[in-house]
Amino acid sequence: QGQTPQEHTPDNSLALLKDGYDFIFKRRREMETEIFRTRLLGQPAICIGGKDAAELFYDTSKFQRSGAIPKRIQKSLFGENAIQTMDGDAHRHRKMLFMSLMSRERLDVFMQLLAQEWEAAIGRWEGAGEVELFGESQELLHRAACRWAGVPIEEETVRNRADDMGAMVEAFGAVGPRHAAGRRARRRTEEWLEGFILDLRAGEFKADEGTAAYAMAFHRDLQDRELDSRMAAIELINIVRPIVAIGRYVVFTAIALHEHPEYREKLAADEGKYRQWFVQETRRYYPFTPFLGASVIHDFTWKGHEFEEGTMVLLDVYGTTHDPALWDEADKFKPERFENWGGSPFDLIPQGGGDPNSGHRCAGEWLTIDAMRVSLEFLTNRMAYDVPEQDLELSLSRMPALPESRFVITNVRLASSEA
Ligand code: HEM
Repeated sequence: QGQTPQEHTPDNSLALLKDGYDFIFKRRREMETEIFRTRLLGQPAICIGGKDAAELFYDTSKFQRSGAIPKRIQKSLFGENAIQTMDGDAHRHRKMLFMSLMSRERLDVFMQLLAQEWEAAIGRWEGAGEVELFGESQELLHRAACRWAGVPIEEETVRNRADDMGAMVEAFGAVGPRHAAGRRARRRTEEWLEGFILDLRAGEFKADEGTAAYAMAFHRDLQDRELDSRMAAIELINIVRPIVAIGRYVVFTAIALHEHPEYREKLAADEGKYRQWFVQETRRYYPFTPFLGASVIHDFTWKGHEFEEGTMVLLDVYGTTHDPALWDEADKFKPERFENWGGSPFDLIPQGGGDPNSGHRCAGEWLTIDAMRVSLEFLTNRMAYDVPEQDLELSLSRMPALPESRFVITNVRLASSEA
């Protein structure tokens, strides 16, 4: 009892910023443990990682999200008091709203829109000289997301709106200007979409049933009340913003193709399986979500370790997807590993673990995987481009991770014009 390894430094908030994605995993390796105690943001915290830890973390009888998500994250990344902070029946009801948007039919519609936007974007890039793939792919994803979600696009503002979506994500692991920019982006975006929700409710604008805009505007909570118009806007952003964030995975896919060119042939030769493995390995290998936080509901003991009521617990997402106990040659990019993957909900957890319907696991994981498959198809078969010399290294201390150059490509052409 009480054998939990412990760090004796007074507070590790600065170390967290420095070590970034490796903060928990580094200490887990050094202490050879799946669990340790530390202090973060002036309070005691328990850090856990690995498959058993993920399973524990998603036990909703033991952990809650209420009070666990710092206000600075809510004011930049998530929006205040939105789905990420909810628990129990209210959370499940809100989650059903999100999951109802993810039917196979609706996902197929998204993929068609996305493919159209990729084609249009390649048209814009042809003859354009240098193209910054990160910003451009965020824009094309934003265009597809808005069309899918029933949100009107104006050509004059589309790029700024897309950049604002991206800025909210850029804010999460930052202090200083990058964080402040994310907060400003959130305020602008909430104001824009709250106005749009009010227009929808007043009948001044129409959105098709089945779109996220319609769903958020007319959803009723468990007390049969409409969402507050600001909250409806926040939840609509919780659809559009993470779709735009797939732009990061587009860049990671492009880096993987650049650094492992041998896969281009394998992908061309085998359309189905390889593509899926490549996408899964990109999600496993590249750093996106570093960790997740929750708080202990009541005292309990797990494997002899005591968890006290109210304690902040962090699940090591990045470390779990790189854990040598779970992944053979964990630090190698090896899509073939997915040939033998068992499909556990608790080891491949870049977008959270467990069951998305009952817990907090990402509502958009299927959409993300589909969108990455479409994007991979464009990056491999539908377009050609050159990659000039640039620094593509991903620093684990920059959260969220992004190469300094944001991936510049040149000489873009549609693949058909290659021949
Ligand atoms: C939740 C990652 C894309 C919608 C989450 C969580 C993670 C995550 C780690 C939290 C899981 C937890 O708290 O236990 C990602 C990553 C994405 C992505 C890396 C890639 C870009 C998407 C997309 C959508 C989406 C495309 C919607 C179209 C959501 C929602 C939640 C969520 C609504 C809150 C779920 C809840 O609290 O119940 N995501 N996500 N995400 N994600 Fe994603």
